[in-house]
Amino acid sequence: MAMTIKPLSAVMAAEVTGADLTKLDRAMAKELSRALVEHLALCIRDQDLTPAQYGAAAHIFGAPKLQVLRGNRLAEVPEVSVISTTNEIGGDEPHVRATHWHTDDSYLAVPAKATMLYPRELPSAGGDTQFINCHAVLEAMPDALRRRIEGLRAVHVYRSRRAGAKVAVRTDVEREETPDVVHPLIRSHPESSRQALYINPNRIERVEGMDEAESDALLDELYAFAFEARFQYHHEWRLGDVVIWDNRCTMHRAMADFDIQEPRALHRVLLEGTVPV
Ligand code: SIN
Repeated sequence: MAMTIKPLSAVMAAEVTGADLTKLDRAMAKELSRALVEHLALCIRDQDLTPAQYGAAAHIFGAPKLQVLRGNRLAEVPEVSVISTTNEIGGDEPHVRATHWHTDDSYLAVPAKATMLYPRELPSAGGDTQFINCHAVLEAMPDALRRRIEGLRAVHVYRSRRAGAKVAVRTDVEREETPDVVHPLIRSHPESSRQALYINPNRIERVEGMDEAESDALLDELYAFAFEARFQYHHEWRLGDVVIWDNRCTMHRAMADFDIQEPRALHRVLLEGTVPV
């Protein structure tokens, strides 16, 4: 069957069928990398991968990196981490993590360029992942608001006073690896040169050079605009999907709308990125 790539919505994301990630030739791999820049997220359907095959498939798009939280890494393939309702946050109660809008890794000086997720167990209903196209947000932004943020930078921290979702407790080593960092509010995509709003509502502490009240007011205004439904794509998972998205120009969040006693577990790979400029 030939590989086909079809848009999943008018906002962003495309569906890839007819591709087996363990058997791609060079032309197909190149086409997938190109399609990721065009569509910002790809859902590659009908994959049946061991963790080692999944980790190997990530090389199609870049270099997998080790994730900060050691406890979530798979022992046999450490570049693959587990996201599940029963790990990470601590405590005995099952919990859905990453439920507030964010872009992965922005609390690092060199954030991941892309994230891949591959579900292993899904709830019987709900548990979607939602996305925002941050190129579209910036391109639709009123001129007056855009002029106010041109040239500004934001302080990203692991645990922000403004976080809307809980984050896992770090070990001392993990804390040392994650000092506060500063990134521009607008970044240029290194492959397409297109600009995008670069915000992480779960990790931004404040806008650099502003007092708390001024910074909070600007962030609230930016977030209200960016969260409008017209910029969103909602992905309804199927077992066999491998979804990859570009963190340089999108945000995402997990939906906590399912029976928390049902398992939801996904294997996650992050790909090395570059310093946002
Ligand atoms: C993530 O933020 O990396 C995970 C999103 C999800 O669980 O849907």
